[in-house]
Amino acid sequence: MDRPNKHLIAIVLTFLFLTSSFPSTDVQSKNPAPETSHPIVIAHRGASGYLPEHTLAAYSIAILHGADFIEPDVVITKDRHLIVRHDNVLNLTTDVADRAEFSSRKRTKTVDGEAITGWFSEDFTLAEIKTLRAIERIPQVRPENAKFNGQFEIPTLQEVIELAKNMEKFTGHPIGIYPEIKHPTYFDHLHLSIEEPLVQLLRANGYETQQARVYIQSFEVSNLKDLRTMTTIPLIQLLGTGGQPYDVQQAGGSLTYAQMSTRTGLADIAVYADGVAPEKYHFLIPKDHADNLSLSHATKFVQQAHAVGLKVHPYTFRAENYFLPANFKKGHDPLALGNSENEMEIFLQAGVDGFFTDHPNIGVQARDNFLGKQHGGWRRIKPKKFER
Ligand code: G3P
Ligand code: CA
Repeated sequence: MDRPNKHLIAIVLTFLFLTSSFPSTDVQSKNPAPETSHPIVIAHRGASGYLPEHTLAAYSIAILHGADFIEPDVVITKDRHLIVRHDNVLNLTTDVADRAEFSSRKRTKTVDGEAITGWFSEDFTLAEIKTLRAIERIPQVRPENAKFNGQFEIPTLQEVIELAKNMEKFTGHPIGIYPEIKHPTYFDHLHLSIEEPLVQLLRANGYETQQARVYIQSFEVSNLKDLRTMTTIPLIQLLGTGGQPYDVQQAGGSLTYAQMSTRTGLADIAVYADGVAPEKYHFLIPKDHADNLSLSHATKFVQQAHAVGLKVHPYTFRAENYFLPANFKKGHDPLALGNSENEMEIFLQAGVDGFFTDHPNIGVQARDNFLGKQHGGWRRIKPKKFER
């Protein structure tokens, strides 16, 4: 399945409307503990290579592409609703800047140490957010996505969960959610903490245990440690490419992401988390001076993480030539799709347990081909049971 057209999206949205009144299922009791595992494909902000990110349409397409998990980044509104956005800065991915009624809400704030001017989720109620429409974040790289600007609402996390459950019934394919808490320390200081309502909302939807089809991720540390005392849901420590987790920096601590990626650092993470999500080139396979990628340059990160029991889910695989290493580009158009599937295969060979991708259809194909080769020939992998 390639780029979805408007017709397909209309069908998907009609389906969502028709199924929204189905009785909800208890996904955990239907799908008990995982028995085997294969690398999971995590749709990064939905099928964001094809549609504006963090929209129900982008998540629907990701599920139809066969993703195992969909990733909602989570921020919070003034009236404490969890909404699905990568940033609390709304103008990056919504039409808020064009809305005269909100012109007076423009502010300059310092978010995680960076001065930003724009419109912020914490200054809007959910009802106000619902009047906004999503726009493409990177129209210069994804002009086709920008054709969908203005068509889709900003979803709540609850709506994303309901979508996953409804589409799971429709496709028969288990679908998990992989929420990331954005700016935890920043929101704590505003008395708009995300962790508690997130756990509450997940619990209310039947996601509560190690077996639940959910991971919670964060770039910060102290909130994950707090979450460990609040829930047994698997936790993922994100690792950034430079500097320190913002909460550590705020507290005057010395811990850096570089230290966290060492053998000792990974062992420390394993005390409170179940996995790590590292940037793929920085931690796993650095590109060479000619911008080429080769398995022979793989670090020991995956083995060291596995040695302390941590899953490894690197981010983010994007299929346009613009994002690919030199030896995986195809042709000279930076906006055309390159050999992302082959790039993904290199990381699968390095032993990752899953990966985030903007192009879940390519991710599923790469994963299935990889597993097929391991089993002596190509075969489509269609899991019937939940596999973490
Ligand atoms: O959460 C995995 C990956 O999404 C981390 O980066 O900035 O896309 O949230 P970001
Ligand atoms: Ca994320």
